[in-house]
Amino acid sequence: MQALSGEAGGALEDIMSLTPISGRLPADLRNNDPLNKNPRNKVTTASLRERKLQHEPITCLTAYDYSAGRLVDEADIDVVLVGDSLAQAMLGYENTLSVTMDEMLHHVRAVRRGVRNALLIADMPYGSYQIDAHSALSNATRFVKEGGAEVVKMEGGEKRADLIRRIIDAEIPVAGHIGLTPQSVNVMGGYKVQGKTLNDIEQLMRDAVALDRAGVACLYLEGIPREVAAMITAEISVPTIGIGAGPECDGQVLVFHDILNLTFGPPAKFVRRYADAAGLITRAVQEFRADVRSHQYPADEESYHLPKDTKAGLDTVLARKEAMRR
Ligand code: KIV
Repeated sequence: MQALSGEAGGALEDIMSLTPISGRLPADLRNNDPLNKNPRNKVTTASLRERKLQHEPITCLTAYDYSAGRLVDEADIDVVLVGDSLAQAMLGYENTLSVTMDEMLHHVRAVRRGVRNALLIADMPYGSYQIDAHSALSNATRFVKEGGAEVVKMEGGEKRADLIRRIIDAEIPVAGHIGLTPQSVNVMGGYKVQGKTLNDIEQLMRDAVALDRAGVACLYLEGIPREVAAMITAEISVPTIGIGAGPECDGQVLVFHDILNLTFGPPAKFVRRYADAAGLITRAVQEFRADVRSHQYPADEESYHLPKDTKAGLDTVLARKEAMRR
């Protein structure tokens, strides 16, 4: 039976499962969990829907490893997406097409270890769901079973609706992704803003409605005009999460490496840089190098020392040896 409250952190009576989601526990019980230092509520697919109804913006960032996952989670971001953008950001591939299931799973597992409260979404890589429904289902299941993902994401509109229904039937929530879908780069002929003609807008609306009806948990809208994203957001029941899709979306996602200037290239128009991690890292590495080269590192305080007695004994032995040598 389900809790009737749409809230993630309801009163104890609202929690109908005997298997608690730790973040949903009331504060007094939560404090008994020695691992839970952050009393924030666990974000679920239900709480995302509630956010849309309450007009409270949803926050989402990508993360690709334990430390980033942990930092993003502890900064109270609602959704952590292990995007296939890790292909470029972490692995140095030219686009997202090359990244494999095993590579994605490796990163999803690492992020899982760092994330407690945020909803964890794993991107299904190119080739893992396009071939046939059986392999799509088996790959989606791996993300849940082996990776600990709570939702899987796949690109594509109405042509994916049947597949998405089958995956949801297997108890796996699915996030949709339409607009500029990077796995279609060769079909699109580059990374171009989508939905600029009336026909394209109509197709995007059909895609969004089909995925909404198929039961997606949320819908990522990438690289489409703000006006189109606003229409989709108003039309469908599930939250939209935009990237380069304007402010009317129910939530916003950016790539971790983009907001920190770790991408080695000019940012897209929609990227806001919140810090210069590349500059910070470069300066730290250069200072370390200079310190080692100039014998400034390590200092005495950064070295281990012998216990006093051992040192005194060693000094005696060395002095005796020195005396014998003379
Ligand atoms: O892979 C990714 O980072 C994504 C986001 C851009 C939505 O799919």
